[in-house]
Amino acid sequence: MTSSHRAVAIDGPAASGKSTVAKRLAASLGLVMVNSGAMYRAVTWQILQDGIDPADPEAVIQALAKMTIVCGMEEGLSTISINDRLLTSELRAPEVNDNVSKIASIPELRERLVAMQRAYLEETDVVMEGRDIGSVVFPETPFKIYIDASEEVRAARRSKDGEADAVAARDAQDSQRKVSPLKISEGAIVIDSSDLTIEGTVAAAHEALLKLGWED
Ligand code: DC
Repeated sequence: MTSSHRAVAIDGPAASGKSTVAKRLAASLGLVMVNSGAMYRAVTWQILQDGIDPADPEAVIQALAKMTIVCGMEEGLSTISINDRLLTSELRAPEVNDNVSKIASIPELRERLVAMQRAYLEETDVVMEGRDIGSVVFPETPFKIYIDASEEVRAARRSKDGEADAVAARDAQDSQRKVSPLKISEGAIVIDSSDLTIEGTVAAAHEALLKLGWED
């Protein structure tokens, strides 16, 4: 890593609690929280909007070439716009949940988004959450955390949020894909959040960072 900025990598399966933890951890440490999943979701939303079949990689890559994707920051959180439209609630639409894993398995697309994820570190210290942050985006960072939770707990969390999301199916696709599959990267500290409160998980993540050599 040539940047002088620090990256905290938080990976884990869907609904493991990693977004909430990343957000709180970033706020308490004064870092910017970057939600990399939002980028894959944004492209998925645009592809569906354009009437393109997400299961057709060639068509997705062609459409991608015409997309203007802008990643930003606002009040300590990452933002994403496509073709000048700032995307927010659209990212959680059920059709996005259903199709994002297909889109995320396209190597050309991942390459473009990973470059944008790394670019954040040129500007600021980050807590970035996703599936391949410790393994691919910032493999050199010593600050790697993997947040897990049982399948039952994760499914319950999603339905409590009122969201239709087949988390188990999405995880299977995200873990089995050829490029950058979800996995525990070497050196990561694993936190099982199944029986922890949000506060408890954030505290465990902070403790993990200190163990990994983080200095507040
Ligand atoms: O974190 P999330 O559930 O919002 O992510 C949505 C999807 O994006 C997830 O099912 C897989 C993909 N993703 C990815 O492949 N790599 C990342 N770093 C982040 C998300």
